[in-house]
Order: sequence, then structure tokens, then C-alpha cells
Amino acid sequence: MKIVFPVAGVGTRFLPATKEVPKEILPVIDRPLIQYAVEEAVASGLSDFVFITAPGKEALERYFAPNRPLDAFLRRQGKEKLLDDVRRFYRKRFAYIRQEQALGFGHAIALAEKAVGGRPFAIALPDDLILADKPVLAQMLAVHRKYKAPVLAFMKVPRAEAPRYGIGAGPFLEERVFSLEKLVEKPAPGKAPSNFAVIGRYIMTPDIFPLLQRARRGAGGEIQLTDAVVELMKRRRVLGYFFEGRRFDAGTTLGYVETLLHVALLRRDTRDFTRRLLRSLARDEKP
Ligand code: G1P
Repeated sequence: MKIVFPVAGVGTRFLPATKEVPKEILPVIDRPLIQYAVEEAVASGLSDFVFITAPGKEALERYFAPNRPLDAFLRRQGKEKLLDDVRRFYRKRFAYIRQEQALGFGHAIALAEKAVGGRPFAIALPDDLILADKPVLAQMLAVHRKYKAPVLAFMKVPRAEAPRYGIGAGPFLEERVFSLEKLVEKPAPGKAPSNFAVIGRYIMTPDIFPLLQRARRGAGGEIQLTDAVVELMKRRRVLGYFFEGRRFDAGTTLGYVETLLHVALLRRDTRDFTRRLLRSLARDEKP
């Protein structure tokens, strides 16, 4: 199964850093944000990647491509561990498709039709960094195999935050799995059908493509995947899945700070330092 990463966004929230560096390359400690999503995919058994990029984001393509001079330098220095780290993606398959106009998430996915080749495929939004014992994509693939249906990842959010997400609702088929009956992209305050929010992981089926071609501009004036999924729901069963794991919104500045701190608290080489640092900062804080 292929996986599509829509990575064409301008990264306005992280300007000026994102003037030259794609936001997906911003590091969470020592690896770029995009690498967490790619590693999640690899750990879920996926190794065929389709990136929907935009002009000016060539650094993303270079990031996964071989850098022979760097390899040679690390080899001369005897830095085998670092060499393994930079070489780990060389053998995977990467394809890059340019989204020339910023017409939205749904439009980006529509561009992947040929690359996906008429088979079910996964989508991951790298801004949603999810830490889980079993990778979320692997959890969703299991649900997809069982029900042979498209699957969208969900988590509960505070009602006040519903306007930032796709919001869905429907009856449960089993613990964590529900049949989507309602779905709305970025509902107006007070108009959300629930507090179940779509998080950026999807297992889609190719019958989404003709619906994306037909989709009109929706929330934010953009072509939205959510609107095509609403059409898909009229034709077949579409599932929502409450994943196990913790999601961080690395696409906002505050979420990015939270992500950094959490990853630092989890990593063995940074954990003790970060704990001490946070404790001493908390002591210094005047109420
Ligand atoms: C996208 C989707 C939205 C989903 C969100 C999750 O929105 O359109 O349905 O809830 O990702 O992160 P975006 O964050 O790109 O505005």
C-alpha cells in the first residue's frame, strides 16, 4: 500500500523560519517533523511514499535522497551510528508530485490518483505527530482489513476546539470503531455534531478520486477531502477509528513547543535533563 503525504503548505505560522526551510523539515530535537510520520509508516509496513509538495520545497526531496559526500565524511570519521541514521531511507521508494496552486488538502490528494494506481492507500498529515506503542497507521490498517472500508482517525477534543477540525459522528460497531453518519469540515461554533475530531491519518479507497474531481470549494475556500468523504459516505460505509496513542499538533507554535518537550521527556538521552529543567523552571515561576 502506498502512503500520500500532503506537504505543500506554506507554513505561514512558522515564518520567517519557513521562508527557506519547509515546515516539515523543522526539527523535533534532531530529526525533522516529516521523519516521525515516515518512520510511523515504515513501522506500519509501508515503504512506498508519495509526497505532494509545492514549488520552493525542494529541501524536502533532498532530505530523503542520498548525500554521498556526507556519507563519505561520516565514514572517514568512524561515525557509523550517524551514517546509519542518514542512510536509513535511501532504499525506500519516494515520488514527488508538485501542487502548483494552493487549492487545498482535497486537491493535493486528487493529484496522487495516478501514483496510487487504483488501490487502497494511506494518507498522513505530518503536522499531527502521534506517539503510540503500536503505530497508528498499523492500528488503522488492521481495522481496514477487517471491515474492507475506508478509515479516518479520530480523537475527542474540547467542544470549543471543534471549529478547527473535521468533526464526525455515528453509531459504534465495536469499541473504538464507529460508522460515520455525519461529517463536517470546520463547523461553525456551536454547530458541531459531536466532539469527535478527525486527526491526520486516513486509509482511503480509490473511489474517493472521482468525488474529489467533482468537489467544490468548501471551508476556507479550498477543496476539502472531508467534503469528498461525505459523498463517499452516501455510497459505502466509511469508518471512524479512535486510535490508541497521544497526538501532538506540531503545526502551531504552542503545539510545537509541547511536542518538543514531550519528545524530550520520552527520549532516554534528553529525559533527565528536561525533567530537571522543567522542575527548576516551575520553582522559579511566580504565581
Ligand atoms: C485537516 C483536515 C481536518 C482534520 C485536520 C487534522 O485540516 O481537513 O478535517 O481535522 O487536518 O489535523 P487542517 O489542519 O489541514 O486545516
